[in-house]
Amino acid sequence: MPADFIDLTGRVSIVTGAAHGIGAATALELARAGSAVALFDLDGDEASHAAAGIEAETGVTARGYAVDVRKAELVKQMCDAVAEDFGSLDHLINNAGIQHVAPLPEFPDTAWDDVIAVNLDGVFYATKAAWPHMVARNRGRIVNMASVHGIVASPYKPAYVAAKHAVVGFTRAAALEGADHGITVNAVCPGAVMTDLVRAQAPYLVRTYGGDIGEDEALERAFLDAMPSKTFIDPQEVAQLCAYLCSDAARSITGAPISIDGGWAAH
Ligand SMILES: NC(=O)c1ccc[n+]([C@@H]2O[C@H](COP(=O)([O-])OP(=O)(O)OC[C@H]3O[C@@H](n4cnc5c(N)ncnc54)[C@H](O)[C@@H]3O)[C@@H](O)[C@H]2O)c1
Repeated sequence: MPADFIDLTGRVSIVTGAAHGIGAATALELARAGSAVALFDLDGDEASHAAAGIEAETGVTARGYAVDVRKAELVKQMCDAVAEDFGSLDHLINNAGIQHVAPLPEFPDTAWDDVIAVNLDGVFYATKAAWPHMVARNRGRIVNMASVHGIVASPYKPAYVAAKHAVVGFTRAAALEGADHGITVNAVCPGAVMTDLVRAQAPYLVRTYGGDIGEDEALERAFLDAMPSKTFIDPQEVAQLCAYLCSDAARSITGAPISIDGGWAAH
């Protein structure tokens, strides 16, 4: 159960990239705090499946939608539809994200375009679409899922690092405009969370380390060496931080990149 000061009863939240990983955990945590949730994902069936599980567990309304955050018009249509169907739009969690790992000279142009489109353009499109609904109520919460890579860099991830640094900059700019309208905008910056996005990097890491170690060991070497806590972060930890940032208790936190990274960015 969320703490009493994280009471989101009667609120409406959109979470993008909500079919799996951190997004699914965040949608569940918002629902546990009482908010109705709209789960946007490229995979609409998986989003609906996740929504059904959330509704069964929490009893609040949860719906899945097929939304590609790279498509500005579609994102606007779906944000408007959620506000219309649910009666308001209070919180937006810009969580959808992808990764591509390759040395810079070999980094495919298409992968660059895709990582920027999902991780950065999508954040702008959804924020712009949600904004008028929040302005109309003089209250809103926007949480952008950046990364420790919005604060520090790692090699072989040039597009991801660039996009996440840009998300932190965008967060600050939007927070300045939101302050006049009771809208807070923050960036959550996780270290390594064991999700599909991280697991998919294992084959590349095994090759990079010379091929004589297993995938689990390669992931631990790549990620845990960077985190003083030496422990993968649980998606629910990130989800609970997002729920807190949506609460009234967090009204004075805005424009902030907030680390949840086991000390990674403290290096
Ligand atoms: N896992 C980590 O260690 C970690 C660390 C820091 C930040 N993040 C960020 O957290 C967010 C979630 O990552 P995750 O680890 O849960 O990944 P994940 O791969 O488990 O989930 C990402 C979800 O986004 C969806 N998605 C992908 N492209 C989309 C699009 N164009 N439109 C809509 N949905 C789309 C996928 O279908 C998937 O359900 C991302 O922004 C990621 O960059 C993750």
